[in-house]
Amino acid sequence: MTGDHYFTAEPTTAARPREVEFSAGGRDYTLASASGVFSANRLDPGTAVLLRKAELPAHDATGPLLDIGCGFGPITCVLAASAPAATVWAVDVNERARELTAANAARVGAADRVRVAAPGDVPADLAFAQIWSNPPIHIGKAELHDLLLRWLPRLAPDGVAWLVVARHLGGDSLHRWLVEQGWQVERHASQKGYRVLRVTP
Ligand SMILES: C[S@@+](CC[C@H](N)C(=O)[O-])C[C@H]1O[C@@H](n2cnc3c(N)ncnc32)[C@H](O)[C@@H]1O
Repeated sequence: MTGDHYFTAEPTTAARPREVEFSAGGRDYTLASASGVFSANRLDPGTAVLLRKAELPAHDATGPLLDIGCGFGPITCVLAASAPAATVWAVDVNERARELTAANAARVGAADRVRVAAPGDVPADLAFAQIWSNPPIHIGKAELHDLLLRWLPRLAPDGVAWLVVARHLGGDSLHRWLVEQGWQVERHASQKGYRVLRVTP
């Protein structure tokens, strides 16, 4: 046993490589994954609901798009493949997750458009056309709120954020909290116990 969590900055466990296969937006993906990152063995069911139910960016979208908490990069790769002219920022505190996302961006032919970064390394003047996240609920409510208060204000005025949260992990209370913060929030979809929230300024 080690004290590693998927949101550990530098996992100390050996990175046992593996591959995760899934389909989204009419395309098939085979991405690299490894122990020490979130849902290393399969596409997380919440992420699957998000990618199935939210509106993927249009083919001609230019972004910039942001994936908060990219993990091994499934959302980032689907965004980059769906919008082949868009720049996609992929942010995670976990170094191994960032390495995997960079490798997976190359797998989907988007290495030149995917910017993988630690949270502090995203240019402060970027406004995002879309923010996508299966957010890290397990960091705790206060930390999750801080995370959202940090990134959601960086939506462009006509931008949209898509979030997926399990109902039993507080999806509905997060919805209410976002409304209290002044965001427009729509429960866009609900499937398999997951809420897909569409958030706009
Ligand atoms: C629920 S996982 C989702 C991972 C990936 N997007 C997916 O769908 O498989 C949340 C991710 O957020 C990352 N994370 C935790 N705290 C963070 C923070 N403060 N800023 C950015 N990412 C964070 C974790 O390391 C983890 O990879």
